[in-house]
Amino acid sequence: MSGTESQMPVTIAGTGSYLPEKILTNADLESLVDTTDEWITSRTGIKARHMAAPGEHTSHMATKAAERALQQVGLAAEDVELIIVATITPDTLTPATACYVQQNLGAHRAVAFDISAACSGFLYAMKISKRLISDGAFKNALIIGAEKLSSFINWEDRTTCVLFGDGAGAAVLRKAEEGEGHILATDIGTDGAQTHLLNIPGGGSACPITIQNADQRLATLAMLGKEVFKHAVTRMRDSANTVIARAGLTAADIKLVIPHQANLRIIDAIADRLAVPNDRVFVNLHKYGNTSAAAIAIALDEAHREKRFEHGDHIILVAFGAGLTWAAAAVRW
Ligand code: ACO
Repeated sequence: MSGTESQMPVTIAGTGSYLPEKILTNADLESLVDTTDEWITSRTGIKARHMAAPGEHTSHMATKAAERALQQVGLAAEDVELIIVATITPDTLTPATACYVQQNLGAHRAVAFDISAACSGFLYAMKISKRLISDGAFKNALIIGAEKLSSFINWEDRTTCVLFGDGAGAAVLRKAEEGEGHILATDIGTDGAQTHLLNIPGGGSACPITIQNADQRLATLAMLGKEVFKHAVTRMRDSANTVIARAGLTAADIKLVIPHQANLRIIDAIADRLAVPNDRVFVNLHKYGNTSAAAIAIALDEAHREKRFEHGDHIILVAFGAGLTWAAAAVRW
């Protein structure tokens, strides 16, 4: 689904991110499961990931990332009108994690809800809030990608436990003023025929966790990695190309591509297919692993703070995840 982006322009006014303190390295994982630093590094590019502390919830990380984004913009929490949290690891099934974040921030006037679109969730939130701001329904939006994946990992399954990490990223969106950059184009898509490739099978109404099945670890992430890999490359390539064309850009116009951070081999394949040189592709997955909905949000904030792009530059954000879902955005900063 692609939006015609002819409405009132919406800018990304500021960004923030938060990573929990504890770091789990590949060497640490070698003592947990039958794996090696060499396997993880060569197959994924991941060297370390951050782990939330006991008692540190998705909403806590989301709140910290949000506070940093609000501080950068100089927007008071009580002036936030909309909060969307993208997550597949909510604090509770209900209420939404966004409700806890609203309370933590003191953003009492904001409407707050979650969306579940896995790794594409932050860009889904960007598209939804962009439209709501364009339509005049809200003056601004705080969009957050936050995950505590460590709570939904089978720490005895080497095929998944080496891949994921915890963290949160946030952005503040508002109407663009004259001369400001804005979101030029967005694209989101879903293929529900592939739900079996990547899911958390238990813990929902289809398969509640009971005393009888408690030992099967059904509330942990299961993935057919090889299949997911193929879909990831084609879907992200196509979604990125959609927004590049829709924004009237070519590869040469792009200052930085910020792809979902799941696997360095996927990122390299996408850079190749988009004909964008590697030095114009942002990578931080060696430090954080795959943080699902938080990944693009954290990467955007880091790239922003590292001044990897400046006013007037074009950046492409592109994500892919369980659903299957995919999403992209072309932004003139
Ligand atoms: N350490 C050592 N060996 C391992 C490990 C490990 N941690 N994990 C798997 N292996 C073994 C396998 O058992 C297999 O052994 P076998 O050949 O004897 O059967 C061998 O390594 C190869 O395994 P593959 O699964 O074929 O490895 P592959 O090269 O496909 O890499 C990976 C696996 C990293 C998961 C890759 O497929 C991938 O990145 N897939 C996409 C992930 C992704 O993009 N997810 C999307 C978003 S996530 C979300 O939405 C929440």
